[in-house]
Amino acid sequence: MSTFAARIIGSGSYLPQRILSNAELASRLDTTDEWIRTRTGISERRIAAEQEFTSDLACHAAQQALQMAGISANTLDMILVATTTPDLVNPATAVRVQRKLGALQRQIPAFDLQAVCAGFIYALAVADNFIRSGSARRILVIGAETMSRAIDWQDRTTCILFGDGAGAVILQADQQPGVGILSTHLHADGQYEDLLRTEGGISHGMLLNPLSGQGFLRMRGNEVFKQAVKALEEIVDQTLEANGLDKAQIDWLVPHQANIRIIQSTAKRLGMTMDRVVLTVDRHGNTSAASVPLALDEAVRDGRIQPGHLLLLEAFGGGFTWGSALVRW
Ligand code: UT7
Repeated sequence: MSTFAARIIGSGSYLPQRILSNAELASRLDTTDEWIRTRTGISERRIAAEQEFTSDLACHAAQQALQMAGISANTLDMILVATTTPDLVNPATAVRVQRKLGALQRQIPAFDLQAVCAGFIYALAVADNFIRSGSARRILVIGAETMSRAIDWQDRTTCILFGDGAGAVILQADQQPGVGILSTHLHADGQYEDLLRTEGGISHGMLLNPLSGQGFLRMRGNEVFKQAVKALEEIVDQTLEANGLDKAQIDWLVPHQANIRIIQSTAKRLGMTMDRVVLTVDRHGNTSAASVPLALDEAVRDGRIQPGHLLLLEAFGGGFTWGSALVRW
């Protein structure tokens, strides 16, 4: 049995230039800035340019992470992309990222992972296990999304929520005990597909066709909200218990950014004040698998997260899928 731990040695993120404000949405739809802000905490979100794909967003974030780590893409052992909005049905977005990063010298494995908004936590858990087992030393893990492409812009119950972006981390094997990813916890419950899903797919015998309503994300938000609050409360307790920790020992909550009210309820469960929660939902909206690494990178770069800090990362999304990762920075 190896004694390796997966330590995060670099992070990066990318947001498309175009900002879509609540005011602009309110000028097109039956909604208001006030409703969106009070119900969700969102003020604006980013929208990818026409020729900008998920792999492009992913590459920008990855390049920043590689730069922070001070390593070349050709020293990676694996590339993992968590996304629910891949460039193409195949090949995997991760393979396109590999080519765009020029990480082609060693024919390393590259694959996508689909767990919707929990995708980055799932990918982190997979990468952590490759490193713990000694099968890989350095892994690039990305969460990247162009959610704007799966949105029905006439549906005010969903289109106000989502945005585009990407975040990335580099995990590296480390023999120092008690650093890096301390534990990951993953769950799924396939009973709830009707509450949150994107219609359309190859196996359903239909190409994605927005004109027929295929390819659009549909959500029964209020029901998803209740399940999210409950699942996240449970996973916070599970994570603390598995590590023999008291909630007061967590320095930072880095949550999935779906709705400020969900985040507030998780923070309350942890007895945390909101100044110990990394919040981006106001400026990013819900970027699905990209939201946790985007938030993480922001707090790393502005110096809030410091060596030795204990971070709790968590996410909940379609499936339902949910998970957490406890990280000693
Ligand atoms: O990341 C994956 C996980 N996703 C989530 O966690 C999302 C979870 N859900 C949510 O964040 C919230 O449920 C929403 C923000 C989507 C909705 O907030 P809510 O407080 O649950 O509102 P609601 O769905 O119960 O709707 C309340 C009212 C309805 O009107 P009536 O039936 O009371 O007359 C809606 O039609 O608000 C109406 N409404 C809107 N009004 C203005 C729904 N969307 C809008 C809108 N502007 N954009």
